[in-house]
This record gives sequence, structure tokens and C-alpha cells, in this order.
Amino acid sequence: HGTSRINDKGHLEIGGCDVTDLAKEFGTPLYIVDEALVRQRAQEYVAAFRETGLRFQVAYASKAFCVMAMCRLAEEEGMSLDVVSDGELYTALQAGFPAERIHFHGNNKTPEEIEMALKANIGCFVVDNFVELQLLNAIAADHGKQVNILLRVTPGVEAHTHDYISTGQQDSKFGFDIGNGTAFEAVKTALGLPQLKLLGVHSHIGSQIFEVEGFRMAVEKVAAFSIEVRAKLEATFPVINLGGGFGIRYVEGDKPLPLGTYVKAITDAIIGEFTAADYPLPEIWVEPGRSIVGDAGTTLYTVGTSKDIPGVRKYVAVDGGMTDNPRPALYESKYEAVLANRAKETAEEVVSIAGKCCESGDMLIWDLNLPKVQSGDLLAVFCTGAYNYAMASNYNRIRRPAVVFVRDGQADLVVARESYDNIVGNDLIPARLRKQG
Ligand code: LLP
Repeated sequence: HGTSRINDKGHLEIGGCDVTDLAKEFGTPLYIVDEALVRQRAQEYVAAFRETGLRFQVAYASKAFCVMAMCRLAEEEGMSLDVVSDGELYTALQAGFPAERIHFHGNNKTPEEIEMALKANIGCFVVDNFVELQLLNAIAADHGKQVNILLRVTPGVEAHTHDYISTGQQDSKFGFDIGNGTAFEAVKTALGLPQLKLLGVHSHIGSQIFEVEGFRMAVEKVAAFSIEVRAKLEATFPVINLGGGFGIRYVEGDKPLPLGTYVKAITDAIIGEFTAADYPLPEIWVEPGRSIVGDAGTTLYTVGTSKDIPGVRKYVAVDGGMTDNPRPALYESKYEAVLANRAKETAEEVVSIAGKCCESGDMLIWDLNLPKVQSGDLLAVFCTGAYNYAMASNYNRIRRPAVVFVRDGQADLVVARESYDNIVGNDLIPARLRKQG
């Protein structure tokens, strides 16, 4: 998919770059991002919205993969940006991302984070709870500013996805519940706070969702709520944000819809619900993360050791693992992979791919068909663009890999591999523990 193909040498090529060359130049493990595919995904969303004639913003959920070069891509493709921490906000600002197109999320924004975002004049705060409403109003007052807000609501929709990443149901740490009247109270409160300008509501029902039904239901709930607010409080919402969560194909059997289909389902539902109530059509915002960068990412590893347990299993270990991709260990996520230096050869054995961390749970792929694997082979694991680099750690003091963008035969380093100095860079040895002499 994307610009991936197998070249004459039988090597995997991405963005016109032979990945065996990338391994030589940048080392492994290496995250490779197919820039053209990222742009294509962004354009699919934008094109689908343009077709509707509605006003919209596609905010890239930077939590999926937030580095300065990615913020530049997002801006070039006309997207807005969703950030959830001071670190993501800082990254976006350093990359020169236009502050007015930044939306700030999170269920526990600190006063320092709010202040930082206020000073930068970001476009919108997505307020999660009553404490934050008061805090934001107070800090905005100190700065003599009025800020745009959305209220995050939980519509009571449970999308079929992993428990830890579904968020739209009532029992969730996020947002104001529509069902029990909390969201209505929140609107009342927000309307009474002078520094806050209420633009509308936000709902995010989960992640890696394949059906449109959950989004339709969320729109119904949000529309009914908006109509209730108009009737009782005489306030209308100019913006409705439906969050992200659009699924991608990781392995055979994953059946995501074309991105435009999700957009159409959402916009059709909005048009239907709001028009029927004679409600002015709101601007629609969405926040895709995974579906922008997920399938554009590939992680390249070098095969090291192996261990064959006859009649049981053959383990093949690579030079990375849960430190660069914690998703299999966290969510039992599945991935596909090929031997990148022998991509044309037929499969001869079934192996399980282990990482190099000191725990048994550090497995990347179980039961993978590969040609006879040898030490020094390169393994390419696909669809690692979202929530991999973003969730990488230094467990076992392993250095985080480099990230390259590839495009038209050119590879550009966008994150350097961590150095040993990075590893000990923040360590301090108290005087009493220092080595004498
Ligand atoms: N908007 C909000 C409010 C979110 O919480 C999220 C994801 C998104 C947008 C983007 O969702 P996406 O389009 O990427 O599905 N670490 C997990 C995923 C956690 C998603 C958290 N929120 C994973 O690796 O699967």
C-alpha cells in the first residue's frame, strides 16, 4: 500500500527508498514514514468534507505521532491540530503551527498548561469537567482574555473496540455526561462564565472503529442535546466536534471503511438531524490521528538471535520491541511483517517475533510466516505510524529509534536516534554518592 513496493533486488522500497539502504544510513530500529501516504490520507478527509459544502476543520490528533516535521505536514495539508499536553503544544508552537488552529484537549490540564496555551492564543480549549471550567475562566480573567471553548460530552455510545481505548460510554473518566443531565449543567455554567465563549460540544467515542453506526448514534445524541439546550437556554452551538477513532487495516480481517465514508456518515447525520430541527448547520470538526499516520509508518528492525523449541515454537529476536512498539503488550495488537531484504522469497517457516526487553511479554508478533530467517535479516513491521514513536519508552534504558520521512527517493531524518548522552542526560549524582578521587 502507499508507495511501498518490492524492487528488482527483492528489497522492500518505501517512498522510492530501498529500505536496506535506509538501514545502512540510519541504523535500526528505524521508523520510516511514507510522506505521500500521510498527505493522501489528510487529503481524503479534506476532499470528503469539501464535497459536503459544510464548514469544517480536520484537526490532526497529534497524540498519534507528534514531532515538529509532522506538525509542518499537518499545516501544509490544511489541517488543524489537537494537542493534549504542554509537550505537544510546545512541539506545535516550535514548528510554527498557527496557534489559532490548535485545539487543547485533556481531562486534567494544569494551570501552567492553560496559561501557556492562553499566552499562545490557541484557537479552542476542549473543556472536560467543572473544575476546569472555573480554572480556565479564572486564568483567562487574569490575562484579560476571552477564550473559545467546546464542552466534551459523553454521549453514552459504546463503540466496539478495546476497553482501554473506548471513551464514549457513561462510565468514563472523560467529559460531561449527557444522559444524567451533567452536560446540561455544564452548558449553563459555561454560559454564565464571562471569559468563556461556548462554541459547542465535542464527543469522542473511541479508537480503531470500523463501523459508522457509533458515529451516527453520537450525532443523534449530540443533536438532541443541542436542540434541548436551544429550547431551554436559548443558546445555539456554531460548532460540533465528533472526535476521531476512524479505524485502519493492521492485519487481514481488519475492514476499515474509506475515510470519506466516515465523513459522509457524520455529515449526513448532522445535516439530517439539525435540518429537521430547523437548527442552523454547525461547523463540523473531526480529530483523526491513527487514520492519518498509522498505515504510513513502517518499523525496520535487524534480526539478531533466535531460539527454536522443537515442536513448540521458534522465537526470533529483533533489535527493538516493546520500547518502540508497546501496543502488542498493552492491547494485544496484531501486526504484519516481511523480511525486507528478501521480500520476494516464499514463506518457509512460522516464527514469533520477540523484542529485546527483559520480560516475556515483550513480543511483537506471534506466528508469522517468513522465509528461513537469518541473523542480520531486516524485518519490516507495517502500520506502525500511530501510537508507536508516540508511546515509545526508554525501558531497559534502550535508546529511542530515529524517524525518517521518505518521499520520491529522498529520506530525511525528522527525529535523530537517541544518544547515550540522552539516556543519562537528566541523571544527577548527589555529592555524597560521587566516586572519590
Ligand atoms: N480525539 C480524542 C479526544 C482522542 O482521545 C483521540 C484518541 C483522538 C481524537 C484520536 O483518535 P484516533 O483517530 O487516533 O483513533 N494508544 C491507543 C489509542 C488511544 C487513543 C486515545 N485517544 C492505541 O495505541 O491504540
